[in-house]
Amino acid sequence: MAYQTPRGTHDILPDEISKWHEVEDVVSTFAELYGYQEIRTPFFEDTSVFKRDNDSSDMVNKEMYTFEVNDHSLTLRPEGTAGIIRSFVQHKLYGSIEAPAKLYYIGAMFRHERPQKGRQRQFNQFGIENIGLKIPEVDAEVIALGYDIVKELGIKSVKVLINTLGDDESRNNYREALKEYFKPHMDDLCGDCHRRYEQNPLRILDCKEDGHKDIMKDAPKLSDYLNEESKEYFEKVLKALEALNIPYEIDERLVRGLDYYTHTVFEVVSTREDSSAQATIFGGGRYDHFVEYFGGPEMSGVGFAIGLERLIDLATDEGYEFPDENELDVYVIGLGDVKKEVLQVMNILRHNYYICDGNLQDRSLKSQFKSADRSKADYIVIVGEEELKEGKINIKSNIDKVQKTVEIDKLIETIEGWENI
Ligand code: HAM
Repeated sequence: MAYQTPRGTHDILPDEISKWHEVEDVVSTFAELYGYQEIRTPFFEDTSVFKRDNDSSDMVNKEMYTFEVNDHSLTLRPEGTAGIIRSFVQHKLYGSIEAPAKLYYIGAMFRHERPQKGRQRQFNQFGIENIGLKIPEVDAEVIALGYDIVKELGIKSVKVLINTLGDDESRNNYREALKEYFKPHMDDLCGDCHRRYEQNPLRILDCKEDGHKDIMKDAPKLSDYLNEESKEYFEKVLKALEALNIPYEIDERLVRGLDYYTHTVFEVVSTREDSSAQATIFGGGRYDHFVEYFGGPEMSGVGFAIGLERLIDLATDEGYEFPDENELDVYVIGLGDVKKEVLQVMNILRHNYYICDGNLQDRSLKSQFKSADRSKADYIVIVGEEELKEGKINIKSNIDKVQKTVEIDKLIETIEGWENI
């Protein structure tokens, strides 16, 4: 059988790479505009960084690539936040960076999910973490950064869904209420939901199998269990979003697939009709206990991650014009036994920062011109045996179609002059 990429992974080929460069450029530019600094953590961590006590998420329980080396359990990162908080605590960044620490990352993540359009087993995320302040306006600022990126890439059909999970007290009361409610319905729930019942009954509402059953409709609502403090916090987040003109919809069923959230949670989804089930472009929320969990001080954080494959697909669908990166400035053609001289001319051009390629094969003039045309170079330099005897070469401009014969050491000067026309 021919070799293939493993299921759920994909090659990013040269004709797609300009989209990746553009998107990486946009996300990092916006992150820096908002005062974030890049951080790079390992692609794998000790399994315990991700697999925390009593974690109820599918990502941790079902989707991790975990392997053992010398009796040591390691896991390919399924998401970025845990590794960053581990790093934040390990390097005591809370001591050296003035709060909040504003960190961003771009890179591959790995989840053993059922692959389909927009859902891979290896995919790329851009994410941010804002650690050290617990202020509702910061939650809104974090959402605004993601929203700006989506808009910058021409994605218009989007909706911000937002909810609050409240503080510990509110959530604990709600958990108890859910347990009480689901107790007589246990026979209607799937095996996973039996585990969720014990670990985190909130997740039952989000179950792919049970989530649409009638019993969910009458389940208690989290909003009825929020204490005043939690309600007030959420109100302020919403007011700040309004101040920034970011439209939102409160989605009471939004609990998010990861366990570490407290207070604000949000997802930004595509509303395009042709967008598949994987409509979520980015998601995130606040986490009150993560820094402490890794042994750091009591410090709250908030962040999100965008799936870059989904971002690129949607930007493409919405007609964003990605720049074409592969065009040359100059193509060099050789006439006769001049390979060495072609190499020298290319060398001069490259050392002057002209993007340049040329022909080092034995090919007819016609086929070399074809390659030059395909390269879409602005200039074609022709190195001919005859002209070389006088130390000269030909330059043809594809912009104004003029051809000039000049001395080799006037090459750069001539092109620069041309550009100034
Ligand atoms: P998440 O919702 O698991 O959150 O993932 C964030 C985004 O990554 C999703 O909205 C989606 O665009 C993309 N994504 C997730 N799984 C896949 C997949 N299998 N294939 C393609 N794209 C995918 C997190 O990862 C949190 N760490 C976000 C966060 C940061 N929360 C606080 N800080």
